[in-house]
Amino acid sequence: MSSQIDHLLDEDRRFAPDPAFAANAVAKPELYERAKADREGFWAEQSRELLDWSTPFTQVLDWSNPPFAKWFADGALNVAYNCLDRHVEAGHGDRVALYFEGEPGDSRAVTYAELTDEVKRLANVLTEMGVGEGDRVALYLPMIPEAVASMLAVARIGAVHSVVFGGFSADSLRSRIDDAGAKLVITADGGWRKGKVSPLKPAVDQALEDRGGLGPQATVEKVLVVRRGDNEVDWIEGRDVWYHDVVPQASAEHEAQAFPAESPLFILYTSGTTGKPKGILHTSGGYLTQAAFTHRNVFDLHPENDVYWCTADIGWITGHSYVVYGPLANGATQVLYEGTPEFPEPGRWWDVIEKYKVTIFYTAPTAIRGFMKQGRQIPQARDLSSLRLLGSVGEPINPEAWMWYREVIGAGKTPVVDTWWQTETGAIMVSALPGITETKPGSAQVPLPGIAVDVVDEKGEPVGQGGGGLLVITEPWPSMLRGIWGDPDRFVETYWKMFQDKGYYFAGDGARLDEDGDIWLLGRVDDVMNVSGHRLSTAEIESALVAHDATAEAAVVGASDETTGQAVVAFVILKESFLREHSAEGLANDLRAWVGAQIGPIARPRDVYIVGELPKTRSGKIMRRLLRDVAEGREVGDTTTLADTAVMSVISAQVR
Ligand code: WT7
Repeated sequence: MSSQIDHLLDEDRRFAPDPAFAANAVAKPELYERAKADREGFWAEQSRELLDWSTPFTQVLDWSNPPFAKWFADGALNVAYNCLDRHVEAGHGDRVALYFEGEPGDSRAVTYAELTDEVKRLANVLTEMGVGEGDRVALYLPMIPEAVASMLAVARIGAVHSVVFGGFSADSLRSRIDDAGAKLVITADGGWRKGKVSPLKPAVDQALEDRGGLGPQATVEKVLVVRRGDNEVDWIEGRDVWYHDVVPQASAEHEAQAFPAESPLFILYTSGTTGKPKGILHTSGGYLTQAAFTHRNVFDLHPENDVYWCTADIGWITGHSYVVYGPLANGATQVLYEGTPEFPEPGRWWDVIEKYKVTIFYTAPTAIRGFMKQGRQIPQARDLSSLRLLGSVGEPINPEAWMWYREVIGAGKTPVVDTWWQTETGAIMVSALPGITETKPGSAQVPLPGIAVDVVDEKGEPVGQGGGGLLVITEPWPSMLRGIWGDPDRFVETYWKMFQDKGYYFAGDGARLDEDGDIWLLGRVDDVMNVSGHRLSTAEIESALVAHDATAEAAVVGASDETTGQAVVAFVILKESFLREHSAEGLANDLRAWVGAQIGPIARPRDVYIVGELPKTRSGKIMRRLLRDVAEGREVGDTTTLADTAVMSVISAQVR
């Protein structure tokens, strides 16, 4: 792996904070000074201020056994109480927590009092179903209020949720249920997507099918099913339970019990460089502290006035930290939208902003680029004047998209914050603070107060201002992952081995420091792609391709794509036995569909090239760098380390 990352970009536009915005901003410059003087003391203060601890902590960070951190370890709290009951007790029960907007146009406002009531009933139901402290519950749900309630109800009883994105296939769901050893699955008949009900329960049924005594059917006892789409569903008596048959009938009395700060809160699976997804483990007190702190300060949240909208699905970390835990801990009012931006026609998102007078909007560069393509007349036909802050997350945002976002969506005046973080970091790590930082289009800019990062070379030496290298986190942070579920060695190996002697966390991203020391992200340096802001591993898609009968070998690369950032491009060698009986024609489409079914539509390759050979080093490692050149239509780079230097011209010819 090389840390030599060139930059070709010169961006000198600057946007100073508007004085009126700054005067009323939540974040004050003193935060940086305070955190610099005493990092741990700073986080302790934030935690005490933002959260309600049933047993106050006296310890802050325990780093005696790195990289296994403990934050606020002798304290105890209930995460759901912090997101719900305490706001009701403070007299905000009538405040809207969720403005739910269904894709078909149905809508529902859920107040803090109502959401608290629902979560208490559901907590009683889960307990009744035998779910207790530390048990894992898999969630496979659309973006509906019951999904938020389910996460909070699981948290409330000290159990651990594992949300699986509703766009993942039955196979992906099965391996995640299996790995976590889930006892219960909460799902729905389906959810609305592009004008149709996209089924969910059938995938759960398929995932739980008996496979000869192996697999998750050994652990899953019950399936709780929300009715959303009026879909016909198969029913297994004794296992399946309708949500509406048990939750409204359950008692709304439920006293939240406090759990130790380091109690596991959730597992969330993310792609790594091998085919097996990693179960990223987050715990309670530190995670909630940083989720709440960043949500309040980065988004300048004034909970009594703002209407906040984060478009992420709860199946991703952004949905965990900035739809559920951060906003609800801060008592925010937010929009929850079920469907796609294009239904019933392009502009639906802008209709939602107009309808609810959204003030703070958080989305991904891939969406912004999609809107740029459709043209500015679509947002300009709506009243977006309520917006006062825009955020971006998921991948580097190119300066042109940043400028379009600010000008067309933000009327040329809203601050834009580009937030860098990961599933593993749990919460935002690098971002401008609105009202304080002078922003630069395309740069994620500065570590937040209390966060220490650097850009280093392969030996861990700082590259300094003007240099490019690898992004590392040099000090532990409250919402850091606590491990990989069931695999402590892989945790150490993946994130800490590279800079072991320095004790740095390696994020897997390339970055550059400009002359002011501001950070510019340059994308992943490992074999992980970023498609529409979601990390996908090349290895996982290759495994899916090879699982098809026709495939002998496959290599997958991420090629730059105007809309999705990167697109999946696959190079496939077919089996001779297959070629004897079939033609290769039409197979590319079959393989695309196959990957979509195996992993989910997001992983479906944009292009599948049938080739005769793959470029390999003498040790047999596929040189994806060369395939990326072909996929992006470039001159093929240095081939001297190939075992067979002629192979690339053959592949290029086949692709053409
Ligand atoms: C990877 C993490 C964080 C929630 C969504 C993705 C890339 C994320 C940015 C940004 C440049 C970014 C990185 C990172 N990334 N935000 N603002 N600028 N790159 O979570 O699936 O865990 O992916 O997304 O490459 O490592 P994730």
